[in-house]
Amino acid sequence: MATTKGVILVGGPSKGTRMRPLTLDCAKPLLPIAGKPMVWHPLASLAKMPGLTEVLIIGFYEDSVMAGFVKDAKREFPNIAISYLREYRPLGTAGGLYHFRDSILRPPCPQNIFICNIDICCSFPFQEMMDLHSKHRGVGTIMGVNVKRETATQYGCIVSDPSSLVVHYVEKPESWISNMVNGGVYLFDKSLFDEIKVAMDDKAARAAEDPLVQSDEMLRLEQDVIVPLAAARKMHVYETKDFWRQIKSAASAVSASSLYLSRFQKTHPELLAKPSATVLAPSYIDPSATIDPTAKIGPNVAIGPGVRVAAGVRVKDAIIFEGTSLEQHSCVLNSIVGQNCQIGPWARLDGVPEPEDNKGKISVTVLATEVTLAPETLVRSCIVLPNKTLSKSYASRVVL
Ligand code: GTP
Repeated sequence: MATTKGVILVGGPSKGTRMRPLTLDCAKPLLPIAGKPMVWHPLASLAKMPGLTEVLIIGFYEDSVMAGFVKDAKREFPNIAISYLREYRPLGTAGGLYHFRDSILRPPCPQNIFICNIDICCSFPFQEMMDLHSKHRGVGTIMGVNVKRETATQYGCIVSDPSSLVVHYVEKPESWISNMVNGGVYLFDKSLFDEIKVAMDDKAARAAEDPLVQSDEMLRLEQDVIVPLAAARKMHVYETKDFWRQIKSAASAVSASSLYLSRFQKTHPELLAKPSATVLAPSYIDPSATIDPTAKIGPNVAIGPGVRVAAGVRVKDAIIFEGTSLEQHSCVLNSIVGQNCQIGPWARLDGVPEPEDNKGKISVTVLATEVTLAPETLVRSCIVLPNKTLSKSYASRVVL
Protein backbone atom coordinates (compact mmCIF):
# COMPACT_ATOMS: atom_id res chain seq x y z
CA MET A 1 0.00 0.00 0.00
CA ALA A 2 1.35 3.45 -0.96
CA THR A 3 2.52 5.62 1.93
CA THR A 4 0.29 8.60 2.61
CA LYS A 5 0.76 11.64 4.84
CA GLY A 6 -1.59 14.39 5.91
CA VAL A 7 -1.05 18.13 6.28
CA ILE A 8 -3.44 20.40 8.16
CA LEU A 9 -3.04 24.12 7.47
CA VAL A 10 -3.99 25.97 10.62
CA GLY A 11 -2.92 29.57 9.82
CA GLY A 12 -1.92 31.80 12.69
CA PRO A 13 -2.92 34.64 15.00
CA SER A 14 -3.49 37.14 12.17
CA LYS A 15 -5.98 34.70 10.58
CA GLY A 16 -9.43 33.88 11.92
CA THR A 17 -10.20 37.46 12.90
CA ARG A 18 -13.87 36.85 12.16
CA MET A 19 -13.81 34.38 15.05
CA ARG A 20 -13.30 37.19 17.51
CA PRO A 21 -14.03 37.59 20.35
CA LEU A 22 -13.61 33.82 20.88
CA THR A 23 -10.06 33.84 19.48
CA LEU A 24 -8.92 36.56 21.90
CA ASP A 25 -8.25 33.82 24.47
CA CYS A 26 -8.06 30.63 22.39
CA ALA A 27 -6.27 29.99 19.08
CA LYS A 28 -8.76 29.21 16.31
CA PRO A 29 -7.55 25.61 15.69
CA LEU A 30 -8.15 24.85 19.36
CA LEU A 31 -11.69 26.26 19.67
CA PRO A 32 -13.98 23.52 20.95
CA ILE A 33 -16.34 22.28 18.25
CA ALA A 34 -18.57 19.38 19.33
CA GLY A 35 -16.39 19.10 22.43
CA LYS A 36 -13.14 18.65 20.51
CA PRO A 37 -10.56 21.20 19.29
CA MET A 38 -11.32 22.23 15.70
CA VAL A 39 -8.06 20.66 14.46
CA TRP A 40 -8.95 17.32 16.06
CA HIS A 41 -11.71 16.63 13.51
CA PRO A 42 -9.56 16.38 10.34
CA LEU A 43 -6.80 14.70 12.36
CA ALA A 44 -9.11 11.96 13.70
CA SER A 45 -10.36 11.26 10.14
CA LEU A 46 -6.81 11.18 8.73
CA ALA A 47 -5.69 8.80 11.48
CA LYS A 48 -8.23 6.24 10.21
CA MET A 49 -6.81 6.16 6.66
CA PRO A 50 -4.99 2.94 5.75
CA GLY A 51 -1.35 3.60 4.82
CA LEU A 52 -1.24 7.02 6.49
CA THR A 53 1.94 7.32 8.56
CA GLU A 54 2.13 10.94 9.64
CA VAL A 55 0.17 14.18 10.03
CA LEU A 56 2.00 17.51 9.96
CA ILE A 57 0.15 20.53 11.29
CA ILE A 58 1.54 23.67 9.65
CA GLY A 59 0.87 27.19 10.88
CA PHE A 60 2.41 30.32 12.30
CA TYR A 61 1.20 30.12 15.90
CA GLU A 62 3.96 29.94 18.52
CA ASP A 63 5.01 26.34 19.18
CA SER A 64 3.77 26.67 22.78
CA VAL A 65 0.20 27.34 21.54
CA MET A 66 -0.03 23.98 19.76
CA ALA A 67 2.23 21.92 22.05
CA GLY A 68 -0.50 20.72 24.46
CA PHE A 69 -2.76 19.61 21.62
CA VAL A 70 0.06 17.76 19.83
CA LYS A 71 1.03 15.98 23.06
CA ASP A 72 -2.56 14.82 23.68
CA ALA A 73 -3.03 13.85 20.02
CA LYS A 74 0.12 11.69 20.02
CA ARG A 75 -1.32 9.80 22.98
CA GLU A 76 -4.74 9.43 21.35
CA PHE A 77 -3.41 8.39 17.91
CA PRO A 78 -0.26 6.38 18.73
CA ASN A 79 -0.21 4.62 15.33
CA ILE A 80 0.79 7.79 13.42
CA ALA A 81 3.49 10.45 13.85
CA ILE A 82 2.10 13.92 14.62
CA SER A 83 4.05 17.17 14.67
CA TYR A 84 3.53 20.92 14.50
CA LEU A 85 5.74 22.90 12.12
CA ARG A 86 5.87 26.63 12.61
CA GLU A 87 6.34 29.06 9.72
CA TYR A 88 8.66 31.96 10.64
CA ARG A 89 5.97 34.23 9.15
CA PRO A 90 2.73 33.64 7.18
CA LEU A 91 3.85 31.93 3.99
CA GLY A 92 0.43 31.37 2.43
CA THR A 93 -1.32 28.09 1.76
CA ALA A 94 1.44 26.78 -0.57
CA GLY A 95 4.48 28.65 0.83
CA GLY A 96 4.38 26.73 4.13
CA LEU A 97 4.05 23.39 2.32
CA TYR A 98 7.08 24.20 0.20
CA HIS A 99 9.13 25.53 3.10
CA PHE A 100 8.60 22.25 4.97
CA ARG A 101 8.85 19.97 1.91
CA ASP A 102 11.84 18.06 3.34
CA SER A 103 9.90 17.27 6.52
CA ILE A 104 6.84 16.19 4.53
CA LEU A 105 8.86 14.03 2.12
CA ARG A 106 11.26 12.52 4.67
CA PRO A 107 11.16 8.70 4.86
CA PRO A 108 8.85 6.98 4.62
CA CYS A 109 8.42 9.26 1.57
CA PRO A 110 4.70 9.59 0.82
CA GLN A 111 3.29 8.89 -2.62
CA ASN A 112 0.12 10.80 -1.67
CA ILE A 113 -0.46 13.79 0.59
CA PHE A 114 -3.83 14.90 1.95
CA ILE A 115 -4.05 18.62 2.66
CA CYS A 116 -6.88 20.07 4.75
CA ASN A 117 -7.80 23.63 5.59
CA ILE A 118 -8.69 24.07 9.23
CA ASP A 119 -11.66 26.34 8.64
CA ILE A 120 -14.10 23.87 7.13
CA CYS A 121 -16.31 21.18 8.60
CA CYS A 122 -17.21 18.11 6.57
CA SER A 123 -17.16 14.32 6.69
CA PHE A 124 -13.61 14.20 5.20
CA PRO A 125 -14.28 11.61 2.48
CA PHE A 126 -10.60 10.67 2.24
CA GLN A 127 -11.15 7.09 1.09
CA GLU A 128 -13.49 8.19 -1.73
CA MET A 129 -10.96 10.84 -2.82
CA MET A 130 -8.20 8.22 -2.77
CA ASP A 131 -10.31 5.83 -4.91
CA LEU A 132 -10.86 8.52 -7.55
CA HIS A 133 -7.25 9.72 -7.36
CA SER A 134 -5.92 6.18 -7.86
CA LYS A 135 -8.00 5.86 -11.03
CA HIS A 136 -7.00 9.10 -12.76
CA ARG A 137 -3.48 9.56 -11.27
CA GLY A 138 -3.37 13.29 -12.04
CA VAL A 139 -1.35 15.59 -9.80
CA GLY A 140 -4.25 16.34 -7.51
CA THR A 141 -7.84 15.69 -6.48
CA ILE A 142 -9.78 18.52 -4.92
CA MET A 143 -12.91 18.00 -2.83
CA GLY A 144 -15.71 19.95 -4.53
CA VAL A 145 -18.98 21.01 -2.93
CA ASN A 146 -22.15 22.22 -4.57
CA VAL A 147 -23.33 25.51 -3.06
CA LYS A 148 -26.18 27.89 -3.90
CA ARG A 149 -25.62 29.98 -6.98
CA GLU A 150 -25.95 33.23 -4.95
CA THR A 151 -23.01 32.29 -2.71
CA ALA A 152 -20.71 30.52 -5.20
CA THR A 153 -18.54 33.56 -6.01
CA GLN A 154 -17.41 33.76 -2.35
CA TYR A 155 -15.35 30.60 -2.92
CA GLY A 156 -12.87 29.07 -5.35
CA CYS A 157 -15.08 27.96 -8.26
CA ILE A 158 -14.48 24.76 -10.21
CA VAL A 159 -15.63 23.85 -13.71
CA SER A 160 -15.16 20.16 -14.51
CA ASP A 161 -16.00 17.78 -17.33
CA PRO A 162 -18.07 14.57 -16.88
CA SER A 163 -14.87 12.56 -16.26
CA SER A 164 -14.16 14.72 -13.14
CA LEU A 165 -11.28 16.56 -14.86
CA VAL A 166 -11.06 20.19 -13.72
CA VAL A 167 -11.05 22.36 -16.83
CA HIS A 168 -11.21 25.76 -15.14
CA TYR A 169 -10.60 27.10 -11.64
CA VAL A 170 -11.10 30.69 -10.49
CA GLU A 171 -10.66 31.86 -6.89
CA LYS A 172 -13.60 34.08 -5.86
CA PRO A 173 -14.60 35.09 -9.43
CA GLU A 174 -16.32 38.42 -10.03
CA SER A 175 -19.24 36.74 -11.75
CA TRP A 176 -20.77 33.28 -11.50
CA ILE A 177 -19.04 30.44 -13.33
CA SER A 178 -20.11 27.32 -11.40
CA ASN A 179 -21.96 26.12 -8.30
CA MET A 180 -19.16 23.66 -7.56
CA VAL A 181 -16.64 25.18 -5.17
CA ASN A 182 -13.36 24.26 -3.51
CA GLY A 183 -14.17 22.52 -0.22
CA GLY A 184 -10.66 23.02 1.25
CA VAL A 185 -9.60 19.36 1.21
CA TYR A 186 -7.09 18.01 -1.32
CA LEU A 187 -5.21 14.87 -2.20
CA PHE A 188 -1.97 15.44 -4.08
CA ASP A 189 0.69 13.25 -5.59
CA LYS A 190 4.17 14.03 -4.24
CA SER A 191 4.89 15.71 -7.59
CA LEU A 192 2.89 18.64 -6.13
CA PHE A 193 6.25 19.93 -4.93
CA ASP A 194 7.56 20.11 -8.52
CA GLU A 195 4.48 22.14 -9.42
CA ILE A 196 4.96 24.48 -6.44
CA LYS A 197 8.60 24.94 -7.48
CA VAL A 198 7.46 26.01 -10.95
CA ALA A 199 5.08 28.53 -9.33
CA MET A 200 7.88 29.77 -7.01
CA ASP A 201 10.28 30.22 -9.94
CA ASP A 202 7.59 31.98 -11.92
CA LYS A 203 6.99 34.37 -9.03
CA ALA A 204 10.73 35.01 -8.63
CA ALA A 205 10.98 35.81 -12.36
CA ARG A 206 8.07 38.24 -12.09
CA ALA A 207 9.60 39.83 -8.98
CA ALA A 208 12.85 40.42 -10.89
CA GLU A 209 10.94 42.43 -13.49
CA ASP A 210 8.21 44.06 -11.42
CA PRO A 211 9.03 45.87 -8.14
CA LEU A 212 5.40 45.43 -7.05
CA VAL A 213 5.82 41.62 -6.92
CA GLN A 214 7.61 40.63 -3.71
CA SER A 215 10.44 38.13 -3.94
CA ASP A 216 9.70 35.97 -0.93
CA GLU A 217 8.47 32.48 -0.03
CA MET A 218 4.81 33.52 0.17
CA LEU A 219 2.65 31.45 -2.21
CA ARG A 220 -1.06 30.65 -2.42
CA LEU A 221 -2.14 27.10 -3.19
CA GLU A 222 -5.38 28.15 -4.83
CA GLN A 223 -4.36 31.03 -7.12
CA ASP A 224 -0.67 30.24 -7.71
CA VAL A 225 -0.73 26.44 -7.96
CA ILE A 226 -4.25 25.07 -8.59
CA VAL A 227 -5.11 27.64 -11.29
CA PRO A 228 -2.16 26.60 -13.50
CA LEU A 229 -2.68 22.92 -12.63
CA ALA A 230 -6.31 23.18 -13.79
CA ALA A 231 -5.23 24.97 -16.98
CA ALA A 232 -2.74 22.12 -17.61
CA ARG A 233 -5.55 19.54 -17.03
CA LYS A 234 -3.72 18.00 -14.06
CA MET A 235 -6.46 18.30 -11.40
CA HIS A 236 -9.59 16.25 -10.80
CA VAL A 237 -12.52 16.91 -8.53
CA TYR A 238 -14.31 14.59 -6.13
CA GLU A 239 -17.74 16.01 -5.40
CA THR A 240 -18.93 15.35 -1.85
CA LYS A 241 -22.69 15.06 -1.37
CA ASP A 242 -22.24 14.99 2.38
CA PHE A 243 -22.40 17.99 4.72
CA TRP A 244 -19.93 20.84 4.35
CA ARG A 245 -19.69 24.20 6.04
CA GLN A 246 -17.04 26.88 6.42
CA ILE A 247 -16.07 27.79 9.99
CA LYS A 248 -15.11 31.40 9.53
CA SER A 249 -17.26 33.32 12.01
CA ALA A 250 -17.94 32.61 15.68
CA ALA A 251 -21.57 32.01 14.71
CA SER A 252 -20.65 29.33 12.19
CA ALA A 253 -19.05 27.35 15.03
CA VAL A 254 -22.55 26.51 16.33
CA SER A 255 -23.65 24.96 13.04
CA ALA A 256 -20.30 23.17 12.65
CA SER A 257 -20.69 21.79 16.17
CA SER A 258 -24.21 20.51 15.37
CA LEU A 259 -23.01 18.86 12.15
CA TYR A 260 -20.12 17.12 13.90
CA LEU A 261 -22.35 16.02 16.80
CA SER A 262 -24.73 14.40 14.29
CA ARG A 263 -21.76 12.74 12.60
CA PHE A 264 -20.53 11.41 15.95
CA GLN A 265 -23.78 9.40 16.17
CA LYS A 266 -22.28 7.21 13.44
CA THR A 267 -18.53 7.62 13.88
CA HIS A 268 -17.97 8.18 17.64
CA PRO A 269 -21.18 7.34 19.55
CA GLU A 270 -19.06 6.75 22.68
CA LEU A 271 -18.22 10.47 22.81
CA LEU A 272 -21.86 11.57 23.02
CA ALA A 273 -23.95 12.04 26.15
CA LYS A 274 -26.40 9.22 26.74
CA PRO A 275 -29.87 10.40 25.64
CA SER A 276 -32.54 10.54 28.37
CA ALA A 277 -35.70 12.44 29.18
CA THR A 278 -33.57 15.52 29.91
CA VAL A 279 -30.62 15.03 27.55
CA LEU A 280 -31.64 15.16 23.89
CA ALA A 281 -29.35 13.69 21.24
CA PRO A 282 -26.96 14.60 19.84
CA SER A 283 -25.19 16.34 22.71
CA TYR A 284 -21.71 16.26 24.17
CA ILE A 285 -21.19 16.71 27.91
CA ASP A 286 -17.63 16.69 29.25
CA PRO A 287 -17.31 14.11 32.05
CA SER A 288 -16.12 16.83 34.47
CA ALA A 289 -19.26 19.00 33.96
CA THR A 290 -21.98 18.90 36.63
CA ILE A 291 -25.52 18.88 35.34
CA ASP A 292 -28.56 19.13 37.60
CA PRO A 293 -30.99 16.30 36.73
CA THR A 294 -33.82 18.82 36.21
CA ALA A 295 -31.88 20.75 33.51
CA LYS A 296 -32.83 20.04 29.90
CA ILE A 297 -29.89 19.79 27.49
CA GLY A 298 -29.92 19.39 23.73
CA PRO A 299 -30.11 18.70 20.93
CA ASN A 300 -26.90 20.12 19.39
CA VAL A 301 -25.22 21.14 22.61
CA ALA A 302 -21.55 20.81 23.55
CA ILE A 303 -20.68 21.40 27.20
CA GLY A 304 -17.01 21.82 28.15
CA PRO A 305 -14.94 20.77 31.18
CA GLY A 306 -15.92 21.99 34.63
CA VAL A 307 -19.18 23.62 33.48
CA ARG A 308 -21.92 23.80 36.14
CA VAL A 309 -25.54 23.61 35.02
CA ALA A 310 -28.09 24.32 37.77
CA ALA A 311 -31.69 23.24 38.24
CA GLY A 312 -34.26 24.08 35.60
CA VAL A 313 -31.71 25.32 33.03
CA ARG A 314 -32.49 24.92 29.32
CA VAL A 315 -29.69 24.69 26.72
CA LYS A 316 -30.19 24.01 23.01
CA ASP A 317 -28.05 24.62 19.86
CA ALA A 318 -25.17 25.97 21.89
CA ILE A 319 -21.51 25.63 22.83
CA ILE A 320 -20.60 26.21 26.47
CA PHE A 321 -16.87 26.67 27.08
CA GLU A 322 -14.87 25.38 30.03
CA GLY A 323 -15.54 26.65 33.57
CA THR A 324 -18.83 28.44 32.86
CA SER A 325 -21.75 28.41 35.26
CA LEU A 326 -25.40 28.43 34.15
CA GLU A 327 -27.46 29.29 37.19
CA GLN A 328 -30.97 28.07 37.94
CA HIS A 329 -33.62 28.46 35.24
CA SER A 330 -31.31 30.30 32.86
CA CYS A 331 -31.83 29.56 29.18
CA VAL A 332 -29.20 29.41 26.40
CA LEU A 333 -30.34 28.96 22.79
CA ASN A 334 -28.34 29.46 19.56
CA SER A 335 -25.42 30.87 21.50
CA ILE A 336 -21.77 30.40 22.36
CA VAL A 337 -20.78 31.06 25.95
CA GLY A 338 -17.03 31.61 26.42
CA GLN A 339 -14.79 30.43 29.27
CA ASN A 340 -15.63 31.14 32.93
CA CYS A 341 -18.86 33.06 32.29
CA GLN A 342 -21.58 33.39 34.92
CA ILE A 343 -25.13 33.29 33.60
CA GLY A 344 -27.40 34.50 36.38
CA PRO A 345 -30.70 32.90 37.48
CA TRP A 346 -33.54 33.27 34.95
CA ALA A 347 -31.23 35.05 32.47
CA ARG A 348 -31.79 34.21 28.81
CA LEU A 349 -29.32 34.19 25.92
CA ASP A 350 -30.60 33.55 22.45
CA GLY A 351 -30.06 34.15 18.77
CA VAL A 352 -30.98 32.78 15.38
CA PRO A 353 -28.95 30.27 13.33
CA GLU A 354 -26.42 31.92 11.05
CA PRO A 355 -27.79 32.19 7.49
CA GLU A 356 -25.49 30.82 4.77
CA ASP A 357 -24.86 34.23 3.21
CA ASN A 358 -24.53 36.07 6.52
CA LYS A 359 -23.63 39.62 5.66
CA GLY A 360 -22.70 41.47 8.81
CA LYS A 361 -25.91 40.92 10.80
CA ILE A 362 -25.35 39.33 14.20
CA SER A 363 -27.27 36.05 14.38
CA VAL A 364 -25.95 33.77 17.13
CA THR A 365 -25.19 35.34 20.53
CA VAL A 366 -21.52 35.06 21.48
CA LEU A 367 -20.17 35.81 24.96
CA ALA A 368 -16.37 36.09 25.23
CA THR A 369 -14.40 34.99 28.31
CA GLU A 370 -15.53 35.92 31.85
CA VAL A 371 -18.79 37.66 31.03
CA THR A 372 -21.35 37.90 33.83
CA LEU A 373 -25.05 38.21 33.17
CA ALA A 374 -27.19 39.57 36.01
CA PRO A 375 -30.35 37.63 36.97
CA GLU A 376 -33.31 37.90 34.56
CA THR A 377 -31.39 39.73 31.81
CA LEU A 378 -32.13 38.96 28.15
CA VAL A 379 -29.32 39.03 25.57
CA ARG A 380 -30.47 38.41 22.01
CA SER A 381 -28.21 38.24 18.90
CA CYS A 382 -25.33 40.10 20.55
CA ILE A 383 -21.56 39.79 20.65
CA VAL A 384 -20.24 40.56 24.13
CA LEU A 385 -16.53 41.30 24.63
CA PRO A 386 -14.51 39.78 27.51
CA ASN A 387 -14.83 40.69 31.19
CA LYS A 388 -18.18 42.49 30.89
CA THR A 389 -20.90 42.45 33.50
CA LEU A 390 -24.31 42.99 31.93
CA SER A 391 -26.96 44.18 34.32
CA LYS A 392 -29.57 45.07 31.69
CA SER A 393 -30.87 43.45 28.51
CA TYR A 394 -29.41 43.93 25.03
CA ALA A 395 -30.43 43.00 21.49
CA SER A 396 -28.66 42.93 18.09
CA ARG A 397 -25.50 44.76 19.05
CA VAL A 398 -21.86 44.41 19.98
CA VAL A 399 -21.46 45.08 23.69
CA LEU A 400 -18.04 46.70 24.14
P1 GTP B 1 -10.96 33.98 3.18
O1 GTP B 1 -12.36 33.87 2.65
O2 GTP B 1 -10.31 35.31 2.95
O3 GTP B 1 -10.84 33.55 4.62
O4 GTP B 1 -10.08 33.00 2.31
P2 GTP B 1 -10.05 31.43 2.27
O5 GTP B 1 -11.37 30.82 2.64
O6 GTP B 1 -9.47 31.04 0.94
O7 GTP B 1 -9.09 31.08 3.43
P3 GTP B 1 -7.53 31.30 3.55
O8 GTP B 1 -6.84 31.18 2.26
O9 GTP B 1 -7.28 32.53 4.35
O10 GTP B 1 -7.18 30.05 4.45
C1 GTP B 1 -7.41 28.72 4.00
C2 GTP B 1 -6.76 27.79 5.01
O11 GTP B 1 -5.36 27.95 4.99
C3 GTP B 1 -7.15 28.00 6.44
O12 GTP B 1 -7.18 26.73 7.04
C4 GTP B 1 -6.05 28.85 7.03
O13 GTP B 1 -5.89 28.60 8.41
C5 GTP B 1 -4.85 28.34 6.25
N1 GTP B 1 -3.86 29.38 5.98
C6 GTP B 1 -4.06 30.57 5.37
N2 GTP B 1 -2.91 31.26 5.25
C7 GTP B 1 -1.94 30.46 5.80
C8 GTP B 1 -0.52 30.60 5.99
O14 GTP B 1 0.09 31.62 5.65
N3 GTP B 1 0.11 29.56 6.54
C9 GTP B 1 -0.55 28.42 6.96
N4 GTP B 1 0.15 27.45 7.50
N5 GTP B 1 -1.86 28.25 6.82
C10 GTP B 1 -2.55 29.27 6.23
